[in-house]
Amino acid sequence: VRVALAGKGGAGKTTLTATMARLLARRGHEVVALDADSNPNLAAALGLPGHDVPWLPAGIVSRRLDGGPRLREPVDDLVGRCASSGPDGIRLLAMGEPAHAEAGCLCSAHATVRALLADLGARPATMTLVDLEASPEHLSRGTARHADVMLLVTEPYFRSLETVRRLALLAAELPIPVVGVVVNKVRSAADHQAVDEFCARHALRWLGDVPWSDEVGEADRRRQALVDVAPGGSVVTAVDDLVAAVLALGATVPAGGDA
Ligand SMILES: Nc1ncnc2c1ncn2[C@@H]1O[C@H](COP(=O)(O)OP(=O)(O)OP(=O)(O)O)[C@@H](O)[C@H]1O
Ligand SMILES: [Mg+2]
Repeated sequence: VRVALAGKGGAGKTTLTATMARLLARRGHEVVALDADSNPNLAAALGLPGHDVPWLPAGIVSRRLDGGPRLREPVDDLVGRCASSGPDGIRLLAMGEPAHAEAGCLCSAHATVRALLADLGARPATMTLVDLEASPEHLSRGTARHADVMLLVTEPYFRSLETVRRLALLAAELPIPVVGVVVNKVRSAADHQAVDEFCARHALRWLGDVPWSDEVGEADRRRQALVDVAPGGSVVTAVDDLVAAVLALGATVPAGGDA
């Protein structure tokens, strides 16, 4: 099952991707974590600080006439060859970042992520967690088109919600079976209420709330994963509920999804 997290800058995509990945791995799932942000920091959030995660190499994708880019080699071989090992047995892959100023666009890096996600459809038992960029480019390019579940991460304030509304409209043009909203940094019942009303007004599917907590900043300052710093804390507990909800949703997605 391929789960992609999108949303406004700073909404909490990386924190939630990493925490979900760790919790899924601890539940016994095989987990591939994919950093699809050209400003990568999923490794640190997973608990791999200071590690230079090798980028996915160039030239691993072939463009097919029927349905866009696909990998040139079996996906298992690529993951075996290119993934870094993270805590709890997580396999981490990274799209990469611009190597130099004025080096040009990242089209091929986006195509690589798209192809990898497409081919991971052949591994429905693998939980793939994709940390996307804040820009809606992953939707306009179709980088995330092969996700089975897209989580739109929002903070409980209007501009963040507006971003999620726009992303949801774009996602609806792709064959992503489940698109839902996750509210992060919730501080009050009023926060929840405001989001609830927004979702109802715009026919958005609410999937869960994650509370605001100092633990997240504390983990960041310690350069440790949140699950290692506050395993029984309010955020990890809420994310574990989210994991359970996503697993239930994933079970409803046809095997292979939109491969
Ligand atoms: N539940 C939370 N409670 C408190 N702080 C949080 C919470 N979730 C995330 N944060 C903080 O919000 C900031 C942004 O989090 P994060 O990097 O996960 O967001 P992002 O959506 O991945 O950002 P970007 O768009 O830059 O990739 C960080 O400082 C993080 O510590
Ligand atoms: Mg991020």
